[in-house]
Amino acid sequence: MSTPLFLKLKNNSDSVNIMKIAIIGTGYVGLTTGTCFAEIGHEIICVDVNEEKIENLKKGIIPIYEPGLEEMVRKNKINFTTDAKKAIKFAEIVISAVGTPMGKNHDADLQFVKEVAETFGKHANNQKVFVNKSTVPVGTGKICKKIIETEFKKRNVDFGFEIVSNPEFLREGTAIKDTLEADRIVIGTETNNARKIMKKLYEKIEAPILFTDIKTAEIIKYAANSFLATKISFINEMAGFCEKAGGNIKDVAKGIGLDKRIGKKFLNAGIGYGGSCLPKDVKALIQKGQEFDCDFPLLKAVEEINENQKNLLFKKLQKHLGALEGKLIAIWGLSFKPKTDDMREAPSLTIIKKLQATGAYIHAYDPKATENAKKMIESFNIEFCKTPLDTASGANALVILTEWDEFAQTDLKRLHSVMKNPLILDGRNLLNKEIVEKAGFKHVGIGQPDQKPHETAKLLEHA
Ligand code: UDX
Ligand code: UDX
Repeated sequence: MSTPLFLKLKNNSDSVNIMKIAIIGTGYVGLTTGTCFAEIGHEIICVDVNEEKIENLKKGIIPIYEPGLEEMVRKNKINFTTDAKKAIKFAEIVISAVGTPMGKNHDADLQFVKEVAETFGKHANNQKVFVNKSTVPVGTGKICKKIIETEFKKRNVDFGFEIVSNPEFLREGTAIKDTLEADRIVIGTETNNARKIMKKLYEKIEAPILFTDIKTAEIIKYAANSFLATKISFINEMAGFCEKAGGNIKDVAKGIGLDKRIGKKFLNAGIGYGGSCLPKDVKALIQKGQEFDCDFPLLKAVEEINENQKNLLFKKLQKHLGALEGKLIAIWGLSFKPKTDDMREAPSLTIIKKLQATGAYIHAYDPKATENAKKMIESFNIEFCKTPLDTASGANALVILTEWDEFAQTDLKRLHSVMKNPLILDGRNLLNKEIVEKAGFKHVGIGQPDQKPHETAKLLEHA
């Protein structure tokens, strides 16, 4: 059972303009967007090329783990189809949410986005709005516009169409809330008509709308993800400094985060950022910069820090255990962050590969991501376990890679009794060092030096 979501929507039910929307691409972004638009009353048709996915969705089975989403899909009448032509004809707004994976040179691969624009150009039967929700580099709106114009010309039709860039800022694990209670909605358009239509689409959602031009909207998405990545690499760099100079990164983060100009969020030091967006988008922006003679030295450093960070726990393990061959390492958490089963660019992949190369044995556990992890991890020297305690049983060290809530609630006494060597490497600073060490463990976190925790400020936190 997932926790129910209490969402704040605008209380203007009388004035909802029901719109017909087609979403092309039913991944994390497309499925959440389509479902949330259905929830606020729009008529939705979701399209995907993957027939199995569509067949399952028709039965109310969703292909991903995202809290609250399956219930919301079942509750709302959403049409699922593989027939893009039918969906485009039905809709007044066509939203492209196909993936934009990393290309050969780390740029964004626009193949699928271009295909959607082409399909739109081939099948639009009256004036419609084409919305790009995928993360796409600056200039993609223009490319899509050209593709559609070319297809219209081939058909000798001139329905007129609007191009909109409407980037998505949802996070996995909190995707519904992030969509329906968005911090902001960014809409890049060329015309007042497109603005009016997009405003209508979002009228039930209580969030500031920033209208801008298409290129600016495209850049905002990359700037946002790059800034978040910068915050993480900054705090990880400071954590490294704390380890050498003395000092506790958790309190450093609190001490700077209470300054409203800095903000408390995204200052958790750890084993580096992963996921389907931050790593890919920072790389793609650096790559795009080359076209315009922009070197992006700051973002290159952000990336380098992140790569080093992914190796940090492995180095710490070597420091504490010496040679790792034949040792049993327990791993708690595989997904790139909690509340998701997504393994894309998960730091766990880097660490596990390194451990396997040393001849160490691995016991691994994740509450949701194990099945996806099995597809991405070579099967030698690793066993996937059913419970955290089974995983830790007989281990020379326990490594925490994802901060799932259930790990924080561990019975430390029982954990101590099953481990061979009571060493915890806490890659997310999830556990309280003092409590864990009182329970007889050696706790090695990130940016928390080994010396006895000094008198850190006991902050009175004001809401
Ligand atoms: C999203 C965004 O769209 C991407 O730009 C951003 O950088 C990350 O988040 P996401 O929803 O995570 O991507 O992608 P994914 O889960 O891979 O889903 C994409 C879906 O589109 C898949 O279900 C795929 O089958 C479908 N697809 C792809 C199509 O329906 N048509 C295509 O031509 C290509
Ligand atoms: C991100 C953006 O936050 C979202 O706005 C965008 O639409 C998609 O990309 P997501 O990839 O779901 O969302 O995860 P996010 O919560 O941003 O976390 C990304 C990575 O950063 C995770 O590996 C997480 O563990 C790490 N992280 C996050 C930290 O290491 N420290 C932090 O303080 C926050």
